[in-house]
Amino acid sequence: MKAWFRKDYTLAASIIRLHFHDCAVRGCDASILLNYQNSERRAYASRTLRGFQVIDDIKAKLERYCPKTVSCADILTAAARDATNLLGGPFWEAPLGRRDGKTSVAKEADLVPQGRENATSLIKFFPRKRIERSGSGCSLRLYWRNLTQSCKKSSNFVNLDATTPKTFDAEYYKNLGKKKGLLSTDQELYSDPRTAPFVSTFADQPPYLFYSQFAVSMVKLANVKVPTPPNESEIRLNCNYVNPAPRKNVNPPRHG
Ligand code: HEM
Repeated sequence: MKAWFRKDYTLAASIIRLHFHDCAVRGCDASILLNYQNSERRAYASRTLRGFQVIDDIKAKLERYCPKTVSCADILTAAARDATNLLGGPFWEAPLGRRDGKTSVAKEADLVPQGRENATSLIKFFPRKRIERSGSGCSLRLYWRNLTQSCKKSSNFVNLDATTPKTFDAEYYKNLGKKKGLLSTDQELYSDPRTAPFVSTFADQPPYLFYSQFAVSMVKLANVKVPTPPNESEIRLNCNYVNPAPRKNVNPPRHG
């Protein structure tokens, strides 16, 4: 993660987002990494996701030194934690030991919030994922001021954080107070009475308050699971594909 960060620091934010989009659909099972027609990764809502090559690179190294042991879902969780830390944000114990799913459906990925929803639908989205009723799922979103957003019609990028795009800090909350939030969903959380107290608290209090809340919320996010029968999960060998079915021996040796 450190090596990729040195090459392109914007990948850190992209990895954190990738982890969120993974956990938001079918739990944290690396379903977002599967790459085939009509998989989550090919959904409209996934079109600006980045950082897949970082996970592929980490996985390739792990398969070389410690084969068939570390799931793609765990790699994504650990990479998101390390990415946050590299940006100057907090560090936390990431819950590990999950397995990779075998199913990925584009239609399901399109249910992830896109930035034009109202506060009510955002608040509803997170508890459905069993993250938290208090809305800290949504406030996770607010923590991101480091974020770059690709501009659809040109090769330019625009910073989602209007003033300090390279650092993990609490300035973003202050910017919302100045109406500098780029996404309408962010401004929405500033003005809605159910979420506004989170914004003003994090804007006014020392940054460690939002650091520790962010860490707590990320652990909750990483624990989002959808129960799957044992044969529906595996340790993928390549994060882009489910493992090939074991080959059946068509000509079993004759005995006797
Ligand atoms: C409240 C629900 C959320 C909405 C509506 C939302 C919406 C968006 C949108 C519209 C973008 C810009 C996409 C583009 O490049 O076109 C974005 C980027 C981003 N989001 Fe979210 N998001 C939400 C939740 C989250 C959460 C919970 C996290 C982190 C745990 C997160 C992390 C990020 C990051 C890091 C980026 C920047 C990615 C990059 O620079 O490549 N988002 N989000």
